[in-house]
Amino acid sequence: MQRVFSGIQPSGVPTLGNYLGAMRNWVALQADHECLYCVVDLHAITVWQDPATLRQQTREMAAAIIACGVDPERHIVFHQSAVSAHARLAWIFNCVARLGWLNRMTQFKDKAGKDREAASAGLYVYPNLMAADVLAYHATRVPVGDDQRQHLELANDIAQKFNHDYETTFFPVIEPLIIGEAARVMSLRDGTKKMSKSDPSDQSRINLTDETDVIASKIRRARTDAEPLPSEIAGLEGRAEARNLVGIYSALSGISQAEVLAEYGGQGFAGFKDALAALTVDKLAPIAAEMRRLLADPGHIDRVLFAGAARASAIADPIVAEAQALVGFLPRPQV
Ligand code: AMP
Ligand code: TRP
Repeated sequence: MQRVFSGIQPSGVPTLGNYLGAMRNWVALQADHECLYCVVDLHAITVWQDPATLRQQTREMAAAIIACGVDPERHIVFHQSAVSAHARLAWIFNCVARLGWLNRMTQFKDKAGKDREAASAGLYVYPNLMAADVLAYHATRVPVGDDQRQHLELANDIAQKFNHDYETTFFPVIEPLIIGEAARVMSLRDGTKKMSKSDPSDQSRINLTDETDVIASKIRRARTDAEPLPSEIAGLEGRAEARNLVGIYSALSGISQAEVLAEYGGQGFAGFKDALAALTVDKLAPIAAEMRRLLADPGHIDRVLFAGAARASAIADPIVAEAQALVGFLPRPQV
């Protein structure tokens, strides 16, 4: 059975983008994979996080993963900082990855913005830690949204260079799983920007915890153009906002984009948005309700995460110990 690893940052409330690009696929993979799903708090602090908020959002993210349908008994849900193997392997990868490779990362350029000198060193080496997350488990399949493709290519470059430099075949090749009609959900305010939980505008996104009326109003107010919906996919060319809403509809309903357009093409956006709002509420309301139920007992969430971290460590520790041996480190003392 192949091992799956994926992560999500506790840097806000999960969005419809996280759900469609990642979490929904995490749930589907459980049937025939051994899965590890990680709340990546080490990644989150590459930009400033208020400590109390970080604690809260870590529990919220764990609750969201479970509420979406991940089974933490059969699979593993945990917080990254609780498994030291991630940071230990990341350090080795900091010494394998080349500055030239990191300089090409578009997410760093986006997140660092104009004032690159003020970005944290952690934000720069973020992809090395991500490679360590996956490779500490010898995981081979990684379900992510489209924005993470470049990071996973880098992870494979790191694994190959490690294997080459240390004359081994120790690290496997990672296969990114970028699945579905909405692997890149865009902002509701700007069809050229991805929907993000850290966008300053709450109107730009649907949060998994949004109330029904909030979801409906955000979708009704979503930016669109003045033309009616096209009847065929080719007509979405150059219409980023329309393409985004049609993609979301298709992903949530399981109906192909062509069929969605066959039904709504030629009409204005109002009726389509009403249908999309109803569909979104229908899919997200049960998740939000389950999240609220889980969050009422934070002690239970902590116990799930601790148990997950212990099981994750049991897998990663021997793998990272072997990587350390390959590098030439003396063994760690047995405790
Ligand atoms: P993050 O929110 O950056 O921690 O991302 C967690 C997961 O959600 C990753 O697999 C991302 O690729 C995915 N993701 C985040 N935003 C979007 C989006 N707007 N559309 C599709 N997938 C997304
Ligand atoms: N960098 C990913 C994101 O922001 C989250 C992440 C961290 C991840 N480690 C990972 C995803 C390992 C997949 C595998 O979306």
